[in-house]
Amino acid sequence: MTQPPFQPDPLIDFGAITPERLPELLRGMPKAELHMHIEGSLEPELIFALAQRNKVQLPYDSVEALRAAYAFTDLQSFLDIYYAGASVLLHEQDFYDMAMAYLQRAVADNVVRTEIFFDPQTHTARGVAMETVILGLSRACADAQAKWGLGSDLILCFLRHLSEDDALDTLREATPYRSHFIGVGLDSSEVGHPPEKFSEVFLRARERGLRLVAHAGEEGPPAYIWSALDVLRVERIDHGVQSSRDPALMARLAKERVPLTVCPLSNLKLCVVPDLGQHNLGQLLDAGLCVTVNSDDPAYFGGYVNDNYVQTFAATGLDARQAWQLAANSFEASFVEPEVRQGYVAQLDTYFRQFAESSAAQAQP
Ligand code: ADE
Ligand code: ZN
Repeated sequence: MTQPPFQPDPLIDFGAITPERLPELLRGMPKAELHMHIEGSLEPELIFALAQRNKVQLPYDSVEALRAAYAFTDLQSFLDIYYAGASVLLHEQDFYDMAMAYLQRAVADNVVRTEIFFDPQTHTARGVAMETVILGLSRACADAQAKWGLGSDLILCFLRHLSEDDALDTLREATPYRSHFIGVGLDSSEVGHPPEKFSEVFLRARERGLRLVAHAGEEGPPAYIWSALDVLRVERIDHGVQSSRDPALMARLAKERVPLTVCPLSNLKLCVVPDLGQHNLGQLLDAGLCVTVNSDDPAYFGGYVNDNYVQTFAATGLDARQAWQLAANSFEASFVEPEVRQGYVAQLDTYFRQFAESSAAQAQP
């Protein structure tokens, strides 16, 4: 069943790409982003603009005051502010505007495919209709395809701090809009809310032909990754950085090529790692896991996907071949048809071949 990982075109001369050109290489390479919460792309300026448009009172006086509150100590300290920020979203146009801003930013980072998380319960609990949320986001995805050729799809996430009954109601409520999303995920406060709490709703989602992912092993233990795989039967693990504490789990993830959607700047900002130089991205990659690089909540964590690549490479000393591998992994892990995936990897090979050739030409005396 499992396909072998992609191999780079043998004509790519990785050795010609000097470390000085790595940021340019990383920024220009085609890539997929597979772990991004659309509510986490709300920049403070847009939060204030929407608050004014919708006459919503914010507990901050200015953009600067809001930004100053972005000093997180753990996941929960972030989530409290993140849910407050989402309170300005009321109308279909608000969801559209938020998504278009992210999609345009993704195009600038040479993202060619993005799979976007959204948290409907954050909005339906405030009286916003499911239709308003989904149709606004979906219209933005369609327009981004038409305007920029960017491929995107939506993944509906259940909030794990709420009950499974609430998640089941949410799935039921979203069912009339089934054609507008491709999968379901699980996010919010992890510790104390193990994946098995949501076994029934994931089973129902699978029966509806939805793709399955879950956050696991961000702050929670490796046991949550095991149960996301074995109980929920997810196809990708979001974060999963705690897997390096469990050698048997590492071996399984490598053997089955279970993708991990890693978010280095998020891990730094939420104190999962003390500094980026100690991030285990390279260790996971060297162990043969299908790790990918993503932004999680770019407006809150100080960077979009290219910032995650560039800063992590600078801090950990990864090289051009590993850049190719991470981008290829992002396509391998994406929920697209095999021919589309092949097309993306061919695009990646062409980009690397041409980049290496131009580097070799520049090196000529
Ligand atoms: N929701 C938004 N970002 C999240 C994260 N990093 N972990 C869990 N839930 C989230
Ligand atoms: Zn996340």
